[in-house]
Amino acid sequence: MAKARVAVLISGTGTNMAALLYAAKAAECPYEIVLVASNNPDAAGLKLAEAEGIATFAHPHKGLSREAHDGIMHDALVAAKTEFVALAGYMRILTPEFVSQWEGRMLNIHPSLLPKYKGLHTHERAIEAGDSHGGCSVHLVTAELDDGPILQQTPVAILPGDTADSLAARVLIAEHQLYSRVLAQWVARENTPEYWLNRVREHALAQAEADEVASHGMPCFGIIGGKKFAYFSHDHHGDGRTALLVKISGAEEQAMLIEQDEARYFRPAYFGDGWVGIRLDLGDNDWDHIGQWIAKSWRAVASKKLVKLLDIADEF
Ligand code: GRF
Repeated sequence: MAKARVAVLISGTGTNMAALLYAAKAAECPYEIVLVASNNPDAAGLKLAEAEGIATFAHPHKGLSREAHDGIMHDALVAAKTEFVALAGYMRILTPEFVSQWEGRMLNIHPSLLPKYKGLHTHERAIEAGDSHGGCSVHLVTAELDDGPILQQTPVAILPGDTADSLAARVLIAEHQLYSRVLAQWVARENTPEYWLNRVREHALAQAEADEVASHGMPCFGIIGGKKFAYFSHDHHGDGRTALLVKISGAEEQAMLIEQDEARYFRPAYFGDGWVGIRLDLGDNDWDHIGQWIAKSWRAVASKKLVKLLDIADEF
């Protein structure tokens, strides 16, 4: 299965970036680092990445609006065919536009047990508050600073006599372990049947008057009280495949699709010529395209009246 393409954004030393990069050297790691980018051309981490043969990109933010600089970084990410972004000591407040372009695909590591101590001087604040533990959190990035859903945390005990520096050094060890593990789990989750079913469900239930039932032991989507337009088939009769079954026009279209891409399309057993199976387990799902298949399938079974109503609504 292809590895997920991760870009890391740094501003400084880049030890977390290094930890992500070294973890990615393991054959079983589900991600690869395709770019290390920075707002600081002198960031030490850039040299390290270069020496490791990773593409780098730097563009100073000085003199640029936040929007303009984020736009430049975004373009560099897209040019590297980035799928996920890992912020690792990237000392920039991000624009909501940039964040929304990477929604659910951008992670950050923060040196505290969030929601405690957002922002800077986290270790100092934990010691001053008399906390028993500091720690680190990996979270999804949202427009609000250090505020997105927490994915995982590691608590780190505060020792008597700890200073902000001594605690920071220990938390950093925990960060290096935590970040690569959480990133690996996050990118791999898109390659599970649970994830594929949720995405299919999302698209199917977005159709008008759609509901979900179980049919032939499969999650199945249809028009309420009417015909079915999508099945989620997972290892059905032990066929070892996970696929979406949708309506098509007939035998001709079925044969054409299979000829076009026989690894992806197949004739679903017991469904006849009016359906085609689309494999979801090939590791390269294009969810917009799959969404279009589901919408087309819905149209094939929806009543003329319902389709017409929707077409009229679409015009407005
Ligand atoms: C880390 O403490 C990280 O949690 C925070 O910034 C620091 C970056 O350190 N977001 P490094 O550049 O990865 O060494």
